[in-house]
Amino acid sequence: IKKIGVLTSGGDAPGMNAAIRAVVRSCAYYKIECIGVYRGYQGLIDNDFEELTARSVRNIINRGGTFLKSARSKEFVTKEGRAKAYENLKNADIDALVVIGGDGTFTGAILFNEEHNFPIIGIPGTIDNDINGTDYTIGYDTALNTVVDAIDKIRDTASSHDRLFLVEVMGRDAGDIAMNSGVGAGAEEILIPEEDGGVDRLMASLKKSAKSGKTSSIIVVAEGEKSGKNIFELAEYIGENYPDYDIRVSVLGHIQRGGVPTCFDRVLSSRLGVGAVEALLRGERNVMVGVTNKKVTSVDFEVAIKGQRPVDNELRRVLNITTV
Ligand code: F6P
Repeated sequence: IKKIGVLTSGGDAPGMNAAIRAVVRSCAYYKIECIGVYRGYQGLIDNDFEELTARSVRNIINRGGTFLKSARSKEFVTKEGRAKAYENLKNADIDALVVIGGDGTFTGAILFNEEHNFPIIGIPGTIDNDINGTDYTIGYDTALNTVVDAIDKIRDTASSHDRLFLVEVMGRDAGDIAMNSGVGAGAEEILIPEEDGGVDRLMASLKKSAKSGKTSSIIVVAEGEKSGKNIFELAEYIGENYPDYDIRVSVLGHIQRGGVPTCFDRVLSSRLGVGAVEALLRGERNVMVGVTNKKVTSVDFEVAIKGQRPVDNELRRVLNITTV
């Protein structure tokens, strides 16, 4: 391997810059050329390449977003788009790619490799933490801290006005952000995509909290939860059952994707960036590097995107006890 391309794809996540930095510097360390590809897979199709040296990535370890920019390329979803990408990679003498992203990114990598037999290593970068084969994805810890900070602020006003707040958080089909921020911010109830019966649980817990003398409450609702009601319909439904409650809805949205990466995310990104380049040098192909039980490991892309992880029953139990 003489030349590696690196790109970020899909939804951006805090820590992606730190991961790019680690890939670029590992290349410099092992005397491999490194090419930055702008706007994810779209940049492969558009030939949007730039050589990166160790100094190109100075002062970015602390920056949110991704300086290589990100995209969800529609053209790369087509066979023709992928063929064009391959041509451009060959013309630029790039021997391998490191792709930083989530399940969409890895699905693209599987197809690209099937058609063009091209070495790719993945790094899990998404705030959703919805990837198998790693305990944590890059950006998740920062997003959690952003959410907890926001809910702390909401709690101030909720308690001043004796209000019930429904707070919607991101996570697509995964409840990791909701569950962990909810426990961390002291939420009364948490609705997540992995569990049915969320609305019934919510009504039961409101009944209990009314009896126990609580005057304000925070309910965390994952955007992908499966009650069939959106958060505003949910607020209406609660209002019908509890007409005395003063209810407000807060949708946190894309603030969850931005901001300075936490130290945890920077360290994770640095380890995985180094791990990705070293995996390529060891001859590994078409795997994602992750951290499991404190060690850098790798799994096939197919395993990484295998779908929903089981619910953390322990956390649910802790929530039940701590909201008594
Ligand atoms: O995958 C990251 C994520 O932020 C999800 O939590 C969310 O559902 C989605 O991306 C939003 O995507 P977009 O930025 O394209 O609106």
